[in-house]
Amino acid sequence: MSDLAGKTIAVLGGTGPQGRGLARRFATAGLSVVLGSRGAEKAEAAAAELAEATGGAVRGASNADAAASADIVLVVVPWDGHKELLTELKPVLDGKIVVDCVNPLGFDKQGPYALVVEEGSATQQAAAILTESMVVGAFHNVSAVLLEDPEVASIETDVLVLGDEREATDLVQALADAVPGMRGVYAGRRRNAHQVEALTANLIAMNRRYKAHAGVRITDI
Ligand SMILES: NC(=O)c1ccc[n+]([C@@H]2O[C@H](COP(=O)([O-])OP(=O)(O)OC[C@H]3O[C@@H](n4cnc5c(N)ncnc54)[C@H](OP(=O)(O)O)[C@@H]3O)[C@@H](O)[C@H]2O)c1
Repeated sequence: MSDLAGKTIAVLGGTGPQGRGLARRFATAGLSVVLGSRGAEKAEAAAAELAEATGGAVRGASNADAAASADIVLVVVPWDGHKELLTELKPVLDGKIVVDCVNPLGFDKQGPYALVVEEGSATQQAAAILTESMVVGAFHNVSAVLLEDPEVASIETDVLVLGDEREATDLVQALADAVPGMRGVYAGRRRNAHQVEALTANLIAMNRRYKAHAGVRITDI
């Protein structure tokens, strides 16, 4: 937690369930959070609700202003908008730690499945665009339903953290560790992000079969 002291966390796409849920947990942990949106007013409204609910420091802004004001920027938008948003925000993301949380998934009659991504994964696509940022993949396998549920005090899961820069992966592990129940686990370099993003398709299939909010725990570490 000490490494995170004084750092501001931006959540792009922070008005959706996953972004709101992560922001709720970070704010509850005492971190300063900025929700980003394509519409600043929408982010301000969502942030006011979260600030009220958590008693924490949450404000809202446009995605660009949120990114500019933060040290660590989480990308929590749908896969469809990923490339365009990052390309647009590249200048403000230069020099920052960018945490990609996006799962490129498709859904058909047989359920969820992982899409083929030209760059290998969403995380690698982000790194290809954001050449001056430290791109980390994390928080792919955490359920928004649990994150958003105020009755759930502890999020019992490991967060697989992928990246090529140790300083960045250490900080993102600390971010996961700041949430009660969560543990950040280093899971390899960005070239290994595809499997972790794709694993979410397996988790969604489990959730449908078992009526659950399945997560990941790694043994023996
Ligand atoms: N839901 C989960 O349980 C879960 C779990 C793990 C990972 N994830 C990942 O987290 C990401 C967000 O999931 P979500 O369920 O919160 O999704 P979502 O509600 O569909 O989208 C999140 C936010 O992204 C913004 N957005 C929508 N389309 C966009 C576009 N084309 N370009 C830029 N921004 C756009 C919207 O905010 P504004 O309209 O305010 O801009 C929206 O509120 C996804 O990539 C998903 O794979 C989700």
